[in-house]
Amino acid sequence: MGTMNKGNPIREEVVAWLTGRVPLDQAAIGGLIEVPPNAEMGDYALPCFALARELRKAPAAIAEELAASFTPTENVPGAAAAGPYLNFRANRPVMTAHVLRQVHEAAEAYGCSNLGAGETIVIDYSSPNIARHLAVHHLRSAIIGRSITLIFRALGHRVVGINHLGDWGTSFGKLIVAFERYDDLDARAATVSDLQDAYVRFSSAAEREPELEDLAREAFRRLETREAAATELWKRFTEMSLEEFEHIYDMLGVRFDASTPESFYVPMTHGCTERLVQAGIAQESEGALMVPLDAYDLPSVMLRKSDGATLYITRDICAAEYRKQTYDFETAIYVVGGEQKLHFAQLRKVLQLMGHEWAERIEHVDFGLVKFRDPETGEARKGSTRKGEVILLEDVLREGIERARQKIGENLDRMAEGADLGELAAQVGIGAVVFSDLSVKRGKDVIFDWDRMLDFEGDTGPYVQYAHARLCSILRKAGQEVRADVDFSRLELPEEWALVRLLEDWPARIRFAAETREPSVVANYLLELCARFSTYYSAGMREPERRVLCGDDALRAARLLLVEGVQHAIRSGLGLLGMAAPERM
Ligand code: ARG
Repeated sequence: MGTMNKGNPIREEVVAWLTGRVPLDQAAIGGLIEVPPNAEMGDYALPCFALARELRKAPAAIAEELAASFTPTENVPGAAAAGPYLNFRANRPVMTAHVLRQVHEAAEAYGCSNLGAGETIVIDYSSPNIARHLAVHHLRSAIIGRSITLIFRALGHRVVGINHLGDWGTSFGKLIVAFERYDDLDARAATVSDLQDAYVRFSSAAEREPELEDLAREAFRRLETREAAATELWKRFTEMSLEEFEHIYDMLGVRFDASTPESFYVPMTHGCTERLVQAGIAQESEGALMVPLDAYDLPSVMLRKSDGATLYITRDICAAEYRKQTYDFETAIYVVGGEQKLHFAQLRKVLQLMGHEWAERIEHVDFGLVKFRDPETGEARKGSTRKGEVILLEDVLREGIERARQKIGENLDRMAEGADLGELAAQVGIGAVVFSDLSVKRGKDVIFDWDRMLDFEGDTGPYVQYAHARLCSILRKAGQEVRADVDFSRLELPEEWALVRLLEDWPARIRFAAETREPSVVANYLLELCARFSTYYSAGMREPERRVLCGDDALRAARLLLVEGVQHAIRSGLGLLGMAAPERM
């Protein structure tokens, strides 16, 4: 692991040639170099727009002049102007050798690096509230957060994944009262559904008997002072919730480095609010403690209610300080839905006012809603079915697995020998959910649409997994060791060149995914690579001389190396999304 990408000799030569000939430094030139949309035009392009002002010439004239002064070399056999672009041709066998040797050597670690070594990132993800079922947005947060974690790890960062469990707040006072009052509720046997029901039951009773609210406040105070009976109940609530959450995390394969609940920070809130008062940042107002933020165009923040209870944001302030102290992060990422935009703006502002220079490096990585397609009306709706009942996540995942099982069953004749149907259904069903979530930009809403998600021919998880299994099957069928000392000049097909270009690009795509905190960059790369591979593969089905496993030994060896490279990249990409890469399907 952790291989650094060796510089591409051809790209380097292009940059070196341009250095001194255009009024930009090497790094700026490197940043400008593009890949022409059409490989017939050339393999690297310099757009000349950025030079026009400095050189006081039209971009097309600059491109012409540069092209005229170019002397072909072994690595770069030609350069030509095309309008405002200067296009260079690469010595393709040299470049192919460069890329494929690297992939072969690094295998699945191709694209990984240690660029981020020494840098710590803490990522807060999933972070559900206890005593409630895990909601779809906690699923989305888990899937996105896990992928971002894996992407940063691939770049050598130290990543600490944190599940910030919401286990504190006045609502627990209500639950405690419900369990103390209603004899039919048994804390030892209760499930999360029972907790949700108890909450609803309490709320409607409190409409009739408002004094119940006082009891609830009192119960929460008992909890805050760690009274035994109240604490015992609350602990049970946490235990039963965690049992359910962990079950779902297991199905998804999601893990955390720390599951530090909100209650953990409660003892720190007193000292923290004291400091805020001393510094003149927080003020008493009608018994409550407030941080006025109108000077910053933000609503004021309440840190403590008049009854002394702390709030969600108070605990988040303490959590941020604790994380800084404990992990000394460079960046703290919170993968939380867009609805909490204001909360994180306020959190950052308060931390800034406290004088924390690292407050700038608190980042809210938000995402859109999850919607479900109503099978009858075709309409997409938020988080609940037509009947208005909330969709349970576990059911969603089970349905995915069940549907995948059916789907695979229909194609049993296609299924590879030795594949395990049960395991495969889980990998494909869950993979379908994960991929549909990660293939759209995170800011957009995602729509759960089973037929689309499981379509083996669509832009889906199963499609990518299937392409990967097909690559594995070619490598198995070849029945020979894949070697890197092949005749690279034999890979002459445009489809082969297109695959080499995509493989060349993989390390940069991973870096871009990290910079933008966008797993969709990885998902879309996989779709592109699979589509290119499909074209190549189908051409081989039609014309025997284009087949990977062709009769010409030298050609076959070269093609196998390419196939193996594509397989490594897909496997590594699926890994970064948190998906399985079955070898047989
Ligand atoms: N528990 C919160 C919710 O369900 C999300 C917590 C996100 N993390 C944080 N540090 N605020 O809405």
